Amino acid sequence: MNKFYVTTPIYYPSGKFHIGTAYTEVLADMVKRYHVLKGEESFLLTGTDEHGQKIENKAREAGMEPKEYVDIQAEKAIELWKKMKIDYDKYIRTTDDFHIEAVQKIFEKFLKQGDIYKGEYEGWYCEPCESYFTETQLVDGNCPDCGRTVYKMKEEAYFFKMSKYVGRLVKYYDENPDLIKPSYRKQEMINNFIKPGLEDLCVTRTSFDWGIQVKSDPKHVIYVWLDALTNYITALGYESEDDSLFKKFWPADAQIVGKDIARFHLIYWPIFLMALDLPLPKTIFVHNWVTMKDGKMSKSVGNVIYPEQLIDRYGLDATKYYLIREVPTSSDGLFTPEGFVERFNSDLCNDLGNLLNRSIAMCNKYFDGKLDGYNGLKNDVDLSLEEMVKTTIENFDLAFSNFEFANSLKIIWKLVSRTNKYIDETEPWKLAKDMESEDNQEKLKSVIYHLIATLKQIAILIRPLMEETSDNMLRQLGLLSEDIVWNQLQNYKELKDIRVIEKGEPLFQRVDANEEIEYIKSLMKK
Ligand code: MSP
Repeated sequence: MNKFYVTTPIYYPSGKFHIGTAYTEVLADMVKRYHVLKGEESFLLTGTDEHGQKIENKAREAGMEPKEYVDIQAEKAIELWKKMKIDYDKYIRTTDDFHIEAVQKIFEKFLKQGDIYKGEYEGWYCEPCESYFTETQLVDGNCPDCGRTVYKMKEEAYFFKMSKYVGRLVKYYDENPDLIKPSYRKQEMINNFIKPGLEDLCVTRTSFDWGIQVKSDPKHVIYVWLDALTNYITALGYESEDDSLFKKFWPADAQIVGKDIARFHLIYWPIFLMALDLPLPKTIFVHNWVTMKDGKMSKSVGNVIYPEQLIDRYGLDATKYYLIREVPTSSDGLFTPEGFVERFNSDLCNDLGNLLNRSIAMCNKYFDGKLDGYNGLKNDVDLSLEEMVKTTIENFDLAFSNFEFANSLKIIWKLVSRTNKYIDETEPWKLAKDMESEDNQEKLKSVIYHLIATLKQIAILIRPLMEETSDNMLRQLGLLSEDIVWNQLQNYKELKDIRVIEKGEPLFQRVDANEEIEYIKSLMKK
């Protein structure tokens, strides 16, 4: 059986997750579910990244010990993923004992093999990003990642010899074009970080305590990114007594990360793996961001939207659909209340909802809700719909395996539109006027069959992202969702003894656009 291992970044449990943060999780969950439907043994890893100065400061601000603080925050994250039905297989916390022990072993290994050495570090430090920068990396004297003020700091520290591996890394990039998706991110890494000269990375701190101690030199704690990145292997039991999951699932098939943390995942992570003599992930997919009209989502600007707020009002599937549909592979996506409501009313209520509703109503009206199966009529219009179904499946698989997720939804919705048009073209109500004619009857049966069979295909195609809607569609079509697997997309003509429900139910309830736009705007101001 094929296996598929997909990871999300582990989250900083330092605040409430907004829709942008939830985006990575929704994406990874969809990827996992797609592979499950394909019958692959799939494993999704997520969790929380709980060490470092940033977290320690947050805890102190809240008047708590760091561990007490991260326990509460991790619980909140877990609750959100439960509400969002994220189907993860392991939730790792970097404060888990097994992780701490494995990271300590990894550090000692690097030390022993000479990849880590002791020195003194002086540089410009950005506290929120927990990163040191050189003079030349600063932008207008500020942090190049977040733009905030940086401070000159000096400390005894251990360093990782990045220079030893950088040549190998670039060669690996060139020989493995699937490693980085989309490919323009590779050039960014080379131009912005590798060409200017990759400096050795400072991998310990002495200025604070909230981190994993270096076993052989306990006044040092391990740099949070070295600690965090290794979660992808420690979660599977690497360097523990039971490493069976590691043996089964590593290397990861897809590691999904946002563009802000591309540097850590595309440069440091592969180098750490090379130093451990482990295979690299097959693909690291860097996604763009969900942004707002006035830039980044931030409480101070008053433009933040939380996933719970949208889910409670519009449902989980509508929320997920919007997020994935709006963020293209080539640029950031823009969240607007107008856009959200438009997609809800137009894509979900009108296009998909009405298609199901009209089809079920016609099946009931003309055939009492029952149909034997495919009758083999070869009308041009039917054949052209069949052809479109076939190409939709191919194009969807292609887009999905190429990590073009917004596009993969666009492809499905093209079929939805085409099928609505098919109803207009075949005019079933005209055929129904003369049911005495056997020819007409067969034509009408063929139309209704094509509608139901196409809706079943659509229900399967949206299933990785919108399982509730898929279940709902299948139930109304009289089909069992438990039996659904991806392969059934090949069985277009094999539906038998169709029995749709007597009265169709709306998949999504149309909303008043102006009212809802105002409602979402009021959420953003809160
Ligand atoms: N803890 C680190 C990751 C360590 S992985 C070894 C971290 N955590 S985070 O909580 O700040 O971010 C988690 C994910 O949310 C990242 O993939 C990040 O890109 C993503 N997003 C945060 N804001 C986002 C948007 N506005 N839009 C899309 N994704 C965004 O980074």
